[in-house]
This record gives sequence, structure tokens and C-alpha cells, in this order.
Amino acid sequence: MQISITKNPNPGKMPPENELGFGRIFTDHMFIMDYTDSEKWHNPRIVPYGPLSLMPSGDGIQYANTVFEGMKAYRWADGSIHLFRPIENAKRINVSAERIGLPQIPNDIFLEAVRELVRVDSSWVPSSEGTSLYIRPFIFATDEELALHGIHKAIFVIILSPSASYFAEGIKPVKIMLETEDVRAVRGGTGYTKCGGNYAASNRAGDRAMEKGYSQVLWLDGVHRKYIEEVGAMNVMFKIRGTVVTPSLENGSILSGITRKSCLEVLRHWGVPAEERLLSVDELISAAADGGLEEAFGTGTAAVISPIGELFYEGKKYTVNGFKIGETAQRLYDELTGIQWGKRPDPFGWTECV
Ligand code: PLP
Ligand code: COI
Repeated sequence: MQISITKNPNPGKMPPENELGFGRIFTDHMFIMDYTDSEKWHNPRIVPYGPLSLMPSGDGIQYANTVFEGMKAYRWADGSIHLFRPIENAKRINVSAERIGLPQIPNDIFLEAVRELVRVDSSWVPSSEGTSLYIRPFIFATDEELALHGIHKAIFVIILSPSASYFAEGIKPVKIMLETEDVRAVRGGTGYTKCGGNYAASNRAGDRAMEKGYSQVLWLDGVHRKYIEEVGAMNVMFKIRGTVVTPSLENGSILSGITRKSCLEVLRHWGVPAEERLLSVDELISAAADGGLEEAFGTGTAAVISPIGELFYEGKKYTVNGFKIGETAQRLYDELTGIQWGKRPDPFGWTECV
């Protein structure tokens, strides 16, 4: 693939790394590629980061025909830059695109676009502890027609954001509220994808949780309102009487997180018991009440490993592990971030130099 590059004539300046926050600062360039049914994917280009020109009738805006990915580039101590399991993101954006009816991107195009854009903006990859370059690839429909006639035109864009922790708490525990009114996903729906609509459907509950002082909601399944699913921006794991339990994916309503998958592989490698299964809210709450719930934590690219120190359910607060990060969460955090920043060996071959 021949990617044309137009350099930004007015390059920006990286703010002090301790002021980055998450997803607020953007680099000098972005990648864009167009799709039409007749031409397929074409015109790959890296251009200055800036506004896109879009028709208001466009399908992506009107009907949320949009899917995205979240991945990171890490700067190692020797200055080199590495991606973490990027092929998993390439595959997953196509799982999402297939569900929404968007055109899929060949894995090699996706990977080359990510690598080339990161190389062009390599000076924006931060180096202080806990920071990385967050990579946001997305595809959305650009058909200019209000009738529901399928998607025939689309655009693939990648933007980059030097970032620190997703939660202001960093690796400190967050407070999470179990959501009992709104639902995020059902079997047969889009819960297993990273489509924009899933996040739109989550906003109201997230806002209500924030008003009450909770960082995000923990979703229950949409049919029985009984089984634990995931948190707004991360999968969730609980250590119950020595075993790590995480909701299984078979219902199709939970995102198959790459961090979740990596944690399960690491736990199994260590010989720590880990189960993917249905977990009812009753089992969770009774374990929280009788001391059987030893740890709770979220897993995600943006959130990394995020300990949960308090759960709120039906008017009651349940403190987990004395509001401290648990031993397993800390061990997973150290191992994963150790591999990602090149401080520990990578026995699984997960990192890739850009
Ligand atoms: N669940 C949801 C809804 C998410 O948005 C994310 C973030 O990508 C995750 C889980 C975690 O997935 P991953 O570990 O692949 O980032
Ligand atoms: C990620 O972890 O990459 C995500 O996409 C979550 C997003 C809501 C910030």
C-alpha cells in the first residue's frame, strides 16, 4: 500500500506529560482511507489532524453506522516504540464492521496504517511511567441517503492521543454502581462489538452513576437482569474464594476484551484458577457480604487493570478488599504493563516494534 503523506505545516506541542489525562490531546496527523463498493478501499493518506468535511445526510451520523478500536503504542526505555497484540484489534474491528454491515478492512491494511501513522507521529509517544500513545482507529458510513439501503460508502480514520490513565484515580480503586434500569446489550444485538451505538445506549446510566459519585456502571444482562456482564469501558473480573471469575462471552452481549483475554492467558500460565462463566448478581453480592469476594477489577486498553473498591447495588454499598488494590490485580497489572513497556520478558510474543 502506498500511503501519501502531507506534513502538518503547524505542528503542535506536547503538553507536560503529567497533564495529559486521557484522550484529550491529539497529535499532528491522522490517517484516512475511503471505501466505495466500486473502488473498494482506496486513497490511503496521512494528513494534518483536523476537521473532516462530512455531509449532514451521511449514514454514520444519522444511524450511528460506526465502529472503532482502542489500542496503544508504548515507549520503551531504549526509545523504541511497541504495539501490544495489534492483530487482535485488526480482527476485532472486522467483527464489529461485519455486524453493522460496514465494509471490512484487510488486516494488513489496518496494521500498516497504524504502524505508519505512529511512525510519522513518533515524537508524540510519551515516555513517563503510565503514559502511552492511545490509538483510535474507526470506520463509519458516508452514504448520503436517508433510506435504509445498506452501506456502500465509508471512511477509515485513525487518530492518536498521547494519554495517561483513563480514570483520574490511576491504579487506585474506583467505585462502580450496578445498573438495574437501563440495559446495554442483549443476545442477538451488538454488545460483542465496538459500535458507537453501544456507548450511546450507555450514556444515561453512566451519567446517573457519575452524579452519585461512581466512576462507571456495571451492566447486568438485558433479559434476566441477573447476570453480570461488563463495565462501561472495561471487562470485569472478581476473585471469589481464591478463583478469578469473569463473565463468559457466549451470550454475545459482552465485548471480547483483548486485556481480558491476556489476563486469562497470564492467570492460566501462572496456574491461578480462572473461570469464564455465568455469574449472577446474587452470587456476587452474597460473596461481597460474607467476605468471599476477595477482589474486583476491570480490564481494558484504556483502563489497563483498574481495581474496584466499592460496589453499589440496590441502595447498599459493598466495600471490596478494604478499598485497596488486591494481590491478583496488582500482579496482573505489573505483568501486563511490564510486558507492554518492555520491562519484563514477553513469553507470549505479544509486543511488536513499530
Ligand atoms: N468492554 C468495553 C465496553 C470496552 O469499551 C472495552 C474497551 O475497549 C473493553 C471492554 C476492554 O476491551 P480491551 O481490553 O480490548 O480494550
Ligand atoms: C478502550 O479501552 O480502548 C476503549 O475503547 C474504551 C473507551 C470507552 C475509552
